[in-house]
Amino acid sequence: MVGLIGAMQLEMDQLMESMEDRHETRIGSDCFYSGRLYGREAVLAVCGPGKVNAALCAERMMLHYPVEWLLNLGVAGSGQPGVGIGDMVIATAAVQHDMDTTGLGDPPGFISKIGLVELPCDAALREKLRQAAEKLGDVRVHEGLIATGDQFIHTAEARERIHRQFGALAVEMEGAAVAHACLTHGLPCGVLRSISDEANGQADIDYPTFARMAAAHTHRVIEILLKEMAS
Ligand code: ADE
Repeated sequence: MVGLIGAMQLEMDQLMESMEDRHETRIGSDCFYSGRLYGREAVLAVCGPGKVNAALCAERMMLHYPVEWLLNLGVAGSGQPGVGIGDMVIATAAVQHDMDTTGLGDPPGFISKIGLVELPCDAALREKLRQAAEKLGDVRVHEGLIATGDQFIHTAEARERIHRQFGALAVEMEGAAVAHACLTHGLPCGVLRSISDEANGQADIDYPTFARMAAAHTHRVIEILLKEMAS
């Protein structure tokens, strides 16, 4: 079984509609939908925005369902010029850009207890995601760092700070929290994002305009990925 988590309903709508024999189970504040998706057993959830929602949902999912890997998918702001609206970003690793104990001498983004800044994504899953994304043909695919924090980034200054500190290709609000939860349970994870805005002064307008188109790109990648894995 595979696990898929998105933050917003619009990021998961099409996958939910495509699921066969769908069974709904509520655990705490999360609703899990399990069934068959493009020939594979899958469980889906809409975790809500932000790191705590995402970590809770990921941990509930992996403790209640026999998932072999967990993928966080959805839309994101661009983290740098050259990554444009409609492009896909596959995370090599994710960072929590708003984790800040620099005042105690730690590097930016350092997560005490696990002792890391970058939360690695599973190399085999990344490779499968890349191959599936490249089959879209009409979409540019990037691989690199994704930065997560509890803020919708909508100023050039904020985006530049995150890029300067971490070299992020994309900014979003859940990926590194899902990666964190997976890491602590030894579960392979991935983060797949499609760019809906440039995380600058235009983001408030671009996000509602392009989020549905960007979500459709991630849906197409998941369809290709799961069909390949089922065959
Ligand atoms: N998700 C989509 N766009 C985003 C942005 N600009 N900041 C954070 N999360 C996002």
